[in-house]
Amino acid sequence: MAARIEPYAAEHLDGVLALFAAERWLTLIEDPARTGRALVAPGCTTLVALDGPDDTVDGVIWMQSDGEIQAHVSAITVGASPRGQGLGRQLITAALDRTGVTRVDLISVADEFYGKMTERRFQGFRITRGDVGLR
Ligand SMILES: CC(C)(COP(=O)(O)OP(=O)(O)OC[C@H]1O[C@@H](n2cnc3c(N)ncnc32)[C@H](O)[C@@H]1OP(=O)(O)O)[C@@H](O)C(=O)NCCC(=O)NCCS
Repeated sequence: MAARIEPYAAEHLDGVLALFAAERWLTLIEDPARTGRALVAPGCTTLVALDGPDDTVDGVIWMQSDGEIQAHVSAITVGASPRGQGLGRQLITAALDRTGVTRVDLISVADEFYGKMTERRFQGFRITRGDVGLR
């Protein structure tokens, strides 16, 4: 059965955290309640790919947007087993469509994946609180 892409709900949090944990995205798993709030914060479009009778969370995209022009991807991941079956691209497409904006920017650790969708490529940075002297 093909995965269904649906809006994230609290019942998906454990599955989403398991996907984040598999990637060792420590900031996203150290405080599950905080992550649960972040995934549904204003301006966020978070979608999950669900599969099987138990609604296994096969993938997730967490996008932020102004609802008009610009979106950013905060996280996207697909489980190891369903990878390479088009789910990642479906998640980007569905989230971009739902935001209604014209474009999405992101920091990439998966250049081959994004490079299949576009040739528009820029360099990115991530600045943490510690980088600028904040606690
Ligand atoms: C990146 C990721 C989300 C892609 O999800 P996916 O479901 O495997 O991707 P898709 O099956 O939709 O792939 C779309 C296209 O990209 C290609 N692609 C995807 N990952 C690729 C990779 N690592 N290397 C080369 N090509 C890749 C696919 O072959 C496919 O090409 P096609 O359109 O010619 O068939 C998934 O590999 C993942 O979760 N990786 C670990 C987490 C991660 O790195 N997230 C991105 C953070 S920036």
